[in-house]
Amino acid sequence: MKTYRKLFNNSFQRAIVPDHHKFYKHFCQNLVAADPEIAELFAKTDMEQQIDMLIQSMTHIMAFSATLKPTDELKKIAKLHGSGELTIPAKYYDVWLDCMIKTVEEFDPKFDEHIEISWRILMAPGLAYMKSFCNH
Ligand code: HEM
Repeated sequence: MKTYRKLFNNSFQRAIVPDHHKFYKHFCQNLVAADPEIAELFAKTDMEQQIDMLIQSMTHIMAFSATLKPTDELKKIAKLHGSGELTIPAKYYDVWLDCMIKTVEEFDPKFDEHIEISWRILMAPGLAYMKSFCNH
């Protein structure tokens, strides 16, 4: 059996690499459609700019699962989302991941349950790191 890292990397190549802007745009649409309170958080956001920032920040999330050492940029993003700034509740990171999976399902023609697991595993360290800022 292939490693989950390999399954993830192959899925990433199929789903995101051909047109990453289109992927992240759908992802943002799925995220704001998932919960009216999340839509409210992004009500005044320039979504095109948000997509560009998400493209960059996903690299930091993926790097984190390989190195387990946050880049300075990831630290900044986590602090910004954390308590006292944007104060994003921890439960929204689970919605974020479900929306990411939904988008992968839409964009990866080979999507299956193993691919879903690979995404959940590879995103988990970065999301745990982001969530750790919810309370400090
Ligand atoms: C791993 C997960 C996430 C990543 C990588 C991420 C990444 C980013 C980045 C790079 C920015 C822009 C920062 C800047 O302006 O310098 C941002 C802004 C923001 N994020 Fe996230 N985010 C994540 C999760 C979430 C979640 C779960 C929510 C809430 C549902 C959220 C809500 C917001 C909001 C409200 C902003 C500010 C938008 C604005 O400037 O109008 N983020 N995020």
